[in-house]
Amino acid sequence: MPGSSVLFDTYARFPVRIVRGEGAYVVDAAGRRYLDFTSGIAVLSLGHVPPAVKKRLEAQLEALWHTSNLFESPHQEAVAERLVRLSFADRVLFVNSGTEANEAAIKLVRRYARKVRGLDGGTIVAFHRSFHGRTMGALSATGQPAHWDGFEPMLPGFRFLPYNDPAALEAIDGTTIAVMLELVQGEGGVTPADPAWVQALVERSRAQGALVIVDEVQTGIGRTGTLFAYEQYGFEPDVMTLAKGLGAGVPVGALLAREAVAAVFGPGTHGSTFGGNPLAMAAAEAVLDVVADPAFLARVREAATRLRRGLDAIAGRHAGLEVRGLGLLLGLGLSPEHFPDGARPLVDRLREAGVLVLTAGPNVVRILPPLTVGEAEIDRFLAALDAVLKERSAAGIPGSE
Ligand SMILES: Cc1ncc(COP(=O)(O)O)c(C=O)c1O
Repeated sequence: MPGSSVLFDTYARFPVRIVRGEGAYVVDAAGRRYLDFTSGIAVLSLGHVPPAVKKRLEAQLEALWHTSNLFESPHQEAVAERLVRLSFADRVLFVNSGTEANEAAIKLVRRYARKVRGLDGGTIVAFHRSFHGRTMGALSATGQPAHWDGFEPMLPGFRFLPYNDPAALEAIDGTTIAVMLELVQGEGGVTPADPAWVQALVERSRAQGALVIVDEVQTGIGRTGTLFAYEQYGFEPDVMTLAKGLGAGVPVGALLAREAVAAVFGPGTHGSTFGGNPLAMAAAEAVLDVVADPAFLARVREAATRLRRGLDAIAGRHAGLEVRGLGLLLGLGLSPEHFPDGARPLVDRLREAGVLVLTAGPNVVRILPPLTVGEAEIDRFLAALDAVLKERSAAGIPGSE
């Protein structure tokens, strides 16, 4: 209940008190059921309370909850070995969230620049409208100055370039430590990177000795239809960060890197009390068991195609809509001319109709079903969206249909 809560007022929360979840559905405190196409902001890769993860967590609850990173960790090694086998990386460091993974990435590439390249200073290149997290380092890499308000001074050593702009890449030079990149800007409006631009970016970075960090906190673990989004862009990064979908709802983050880069983090250089906790590792292992299966990823791509086709058809019937995204990280851009009040009224109407979606900035509806979403659920979502848009045009909202 807004106004009566003792929680910090840091979120403009939707007025729904979710108390249970099952698959693609949640139930609120009043017993109302909703189709959940938010997935906890791309966290619930396998939907709510997936039985395979639950079973593994229950077994882990009986065995061990926490040691510390001062002891060897078979739990972390098991998940790390899987991630290494499945990716470009040679080493994995576990943390607890996306922002923490990005903090670790920033520290890693800075240390690499100093210790290996002998650079004194230098900059990390990031992009306008990027989002890398809320802690001071990740926030300093986030190209949305609105999020900096009141927190300045930001960390020095970051430079922002326009996303998807080939000419801007000339700014990557011999003083560039690393380029930090989302392959689909999620929070920034669900904008995929242009493959030719990414190729030019990688080539330029390599030529200048700059490392390439991909932030796959939102795009990773099958969300875009491949285990990692970089696989669709035909290159391998030097560093990658993960979180969200890796734990299916249990907090976990990870930093992955090539050996030559990871080697600059020796004992005592970085750490986390909770990072790689056995419960988080049990969840991550169960998630990878499911998501890394090529047949599962093929089903994600089929679901994505069905959803995208449906959205394209809706965009063909109603004016002012643009469908964008990759895999099951999709956005519906709303033109300000046709939707002068932005995305929030549409999100609110869908919620009243029993469907939960998010915004990504003021003019984009963000659509994030679980990767396990079924055809019937996709069709139900599309029907609800179509009905809400029709109702809007029937009400004579200026510019609609
Ligand atoms: C691309 C990206 N990086 C980092 C983060 C921050 O992750 P967390 O909220 O787990 O700190 C997010 C969160 O939305 C994200 O989308």
